[in-house]
Amino acid sequence: MAVHYDASRRLFHLQTNDTSYAMCIVQGGYLAHLYWGARVRGLGPDRFFAFQPLVSFSPATVPEVPGLSLDVLPQEYPGYGTSDFRHPAYQVRFADGSTASELVYAGHRIVPGKPKLPGLPATYVESDDEAETLEITMRDPARDLEIVLSYTVFEKWNAIARSARIVNTGKQPIEVLRALSMSVDFPHDRYDLLQLSGAWARERYVHRRPLVPGMQAVESRRGASSHVQNPFVALLAKDADEDRGDVYGVSLVYSGNFTAGVEVDQFHSPRLFIGINPFDFGWRLEPGESFQTPEAVLVYSSEGLGGMSRKYHDLYRSRLCRGVHRDRERPVLMNNWEATYFNFNAEKIEAIARTAAELGIELFVLDDGWFGRRDSDNSSLGDWVVDRRKLPDGLDALARRINGLGLKFGLWFEPEMVSPDSELYRRHPDWCLHIEGRRRTEARQQLVLDLSREDVQDYIVKAVSDVLSSAPIAYVKWDMNRNMTEIGSALLPPERQRETAHRYMLGLYRVLERITTAFPHVLFESCSGGGGRFDPGMLYYMPQTWTSDNTDAISRLKIQYGTSIVYPVSAMGAHVSAVPNHQVGRVTPLETRGHVALSGNFGYELDLTKFTDAEKEIVKAQVGLYKEIRRLVQFGDFYRLLSPFEGNAAAWMFVSKDKREAFVVYVEMLKQPYAPKDRFRLKGLDPDLDYELDGDGIVYGGDELMNIGLPVPQFRGDFGSRAYRLRAR
Ligand code: DGJ
Repeated sequence: MAVHYDASRRLFHLQTNDTSYAMCIVQGGYLAHLYWGARVRGLGPDRFFAFQPLVSFSPATVPEVPGLSLDVLPQEYPGYGTSDFRHPAYQVRFADGSTASELVYAGHRIVPGKPKLPGLPATYVESDDEAETLEITMRDPARDLEIVLSYTVFEKWNAIARSARIVNTGKQPIEVLRALSMSVDFPHDRYDLLQLSGAWARERYVHRRPLVPGMQAVESRRGASSHVQNPFVALLAKDADEDRGDVYGVSLVYSGNFTAGVEVDQFHSPRLFIGINPFDFGWRLEPGESFQTPEAVLVYSSEGLGGMSRKYHDLYRSRLCRGVHRDRERPVLMNNWEATYFNFNAEKIEAIARTAAELGIELFVLDDGWFGRRDSDNSSLGDWVVDRRKLPDGLDALARRINGLGLKFGLWFEPEMVSPDSELYRRHPDWCLHIEGRRRTEARQQLVLDLSREDVQDYIVKAVSDVLSSAPIAYVKWDMNRNMTEIGSALLPPERQRETAHRYMLGLYRVLERITTAFPHVLFESCSGGGGRFDPGMLYYMPQTWTSDNTDAISRLKIQYGTSIVYPVSAMGAHVSAVPNHQVGRVTPLETRGHVALSGNFGYELDLTKFTDAEKEIVKAQVGLYKEIRRLVQFGDFYRLLSPFEGNAAAWMFVSKDKREAFVVYVEMLKQPYAPKDRFRLKGLDPDLDYELDGDGIVYGGDELMNIGLPVPQFRGDFGSRAYRLRAR
């Protein structure tokens, strides 16, 4: 059992294999947070959890209960305006215009497994014994409002998924102004806040900063989770590092505007939260209607950031990602984008594909430019009809010819967008997000289709499905290349305009559900100008994401390292591209580009026909190596060894679940003249096993490799790299 309820003390204790999370109903019916951290057997004397008594300026929330004030009580899902002055988890405007609210316990139920979240991506169970769900019903004693708090406890995965459902139980409409997915109050603030922030081409850099009194948060107002911030934050104990110490992660299964952060109050108590961004958000609930928040996934680790990451990896890889490709080895692909951009024809594509096939590559992906009259990014989004000028025999013939070479065929789409210069826009100028009487701001010469509309959803499903049914297409790259402006929908009444951005996400999820269900054999990869929507919401529909448009191996060290904080390696697309690199102009060795790319879902994105024979031999060897190690890379345990944010080198390794096999990559950035002899230590091996290094007959103990380490390799020139294979004897 993962959920325990002690009726005499009105206390809930949620337990995973190594985590405990506890709360209790205190006098007045409030739901107080007690504990989140390493697993404990039971929750001893009540005095253990003595709460801060009310202090000067704290309102006496319940006159009959001296000392109790919501101002200082640690809570599970706090409101505002009834004596807690901190940021609330929810806020509602009632029919009388008032927004104050509080919640008291009304009941609970414990159910096996995990109920689905209607219309939203979420973690799931494959059988009811994998998790247990606690639903606590809370009511506002003064208004017709009910909120059901849901906690699913994944015992084996050591994670708790939280969400809330807000129900209008009255006879008047109400407006939800704020509906976060979780909130937890911690007893002290000796933590740092970790976030993943960046920009296009430098996504998810790791930032760590000490908590200070007041608000510290990251958020997106871009209509997508974004390149700039990722829907995740963690609290790290001051002494926590990659391998040791308490870490508390919260990750939101959502792809739109979000907020995530901490408010540290007057008693240095941090309130950690994550959810839909209340900024520019509103949701009208008619009588009897409810609003379901996305879910937040909470992971505690006593084994530092690395331990937290591996828990997220395991859960997201196996109980968030879905479909037949979830557990299958992913193909080595060749993408023509950086090879040709828009400038290609059937002969060119086939020539690249032929070379790719000769070198062992398994999938050819035709990127942007195959439809409408798309010779640049100026036109044609929305017109998903093959361009016969470039591909005179059509997609089916091309795909079959590529299949004939021994490659599967994949195709790029950007279905959520419309070019003003397109047949679709000329036919349906009101199908994009817009506000009457305002400019429609373009980005990359395109507008965002209004996916809150059912007719638009139907159009996209049909347009994409028609293409997918017309040819043997085994893979889809689903791109999205701008953020939202003038967020308004022609079909929504004024009082619902602030619902548009969230309705868009629900519409997108509906479209993705329909298409991925109709084409279960297709491997879908999500993309948004690289990693502009690399989030758990998209991973539910598509088990992999194009990590970044920046394909430079050295830039990728930080991008992939930061991405791995939450996301499994099987989710990260990584390609070898040409030098000088198209994004940063850097020239790196082909070996290093290979080592970095084969640490993800491996592929190439360059014109292989221009390679020399010697370079082709290297590619062939890389592809061959990847095929041998990809199960380990994609589904093994990932350990970060050296951080590119902290030094001149980066290193990481993959260890098989049975610890009998490992693959290690070490990359040096700039060559250090006359460098001191140094070592780097491995992790995650079995100390009692002996490992043979690179099949050369020399054997090292797992204990030696983890405690003494390997000598740092020496390189000639900048950007050197070395990979190691370890196999137990
Ligand atoms: C942005 C993507 O990230 C690129 O890989 C490529 O597909 C372009 N869009 C095509 O327009």
